[in-house]
Amino acid sequence: YPHRINIAIDGPAGAGKSTVARLVASTLRYVYVDTGAMYRAVTYVAIARGIRPNDEEGLASLATGLDISLLPGEEGQIVLADGDDVTGQIRTREVTASVSLVSANAGVRSRMSELQRLMAAAKGVVMDGRDIGTHVLPDAELKVFLTASPRERATRRFLELGDKPGVTLDQLEEEIALRDRMDSERDIAPLRQAPDALLIDSTGRSIAEIVDEIVSLGLAAAQTVGAREN
Ligand code: CDP
Ligand code: CDP
Repeated sequence: YPHRINIAIDGPAGAGKSTVARLVASTLRYVYVDTGAMYRAVTYVAIARGIRPNDEEGLASLATGLDISLLPGEEGQIVLADGDDVTGQIRTREVTASVSLVSANAGVRSRMSELQRLMAAAKGVVMDGRDIGTHVLPDAELKVFLTASPRERATRRFLELGDKPGVTLDQLEEEIALRDRMDSERDIAPLRQAPDALLIDSTGRSIAEIVDEIVSLGLAAAQTVGAREN
């Protein structure tokens, strides 16, 4: 694949962004960047240090000095916060319950966006999140806004929880709806489809279908950019 581009994938929780983005990246031999994992890592560190999710100054000063990095691992991405492996700690319900509040903080957002732009500077990145096409990488050569119906998104998450989910499907759907609302209504870089993003609804569609579609779009975009530059 001659020309390397950046691909931005945004959308609400459970739309399939991380699953799809990881597979698109491995097909194209690009680097996958899970920005949600970065916000989760900040949230985990804040909780561990006793900083409340509504402590604006505390969060901002924590984020300014914090280094979050992502490393490829055998079972997905390894997340480091100031060098400590926090991968196993960032998907708990406690972190999930606070992450949208922490992510609304201006200092947290500006630090994470700065790190994310550095990660994408060399091109060849598939980055998923909420504000990638709108704020982090407004010049990404391909932007996708991935959605699915709220019920289907909740069901997907429910199925991930296995035999002892510890929560009902209805509860999960409510939690996801609350998080989507907070992510969409915050002042800074809210969840929104970029005007030049392609909307893909994955309701009732398989992972492979969506991956194929995005890989084709990516190759076409790479070719267009390559042709323009030659
Ligand atoms: O995987 P899931 O959909 O549960 O969420 P995630 O992608 O891990 O993101 C967790 C939370 O981080 C989101 O609900 C947002 O509050 C925040 N986030 C954000 O604000 N901006 C991003 N680019 C990515 C995530
Ligand atoms: O990252 P995001 O929150 O958008 O979603 P995800 O964690 O990638 O996907 C949530 C779940 O939906 C995963 O268990 C996927 O395997 C599943 N999924 C699916 O069943 N069909 C799709 N077309 C996409 C994802």
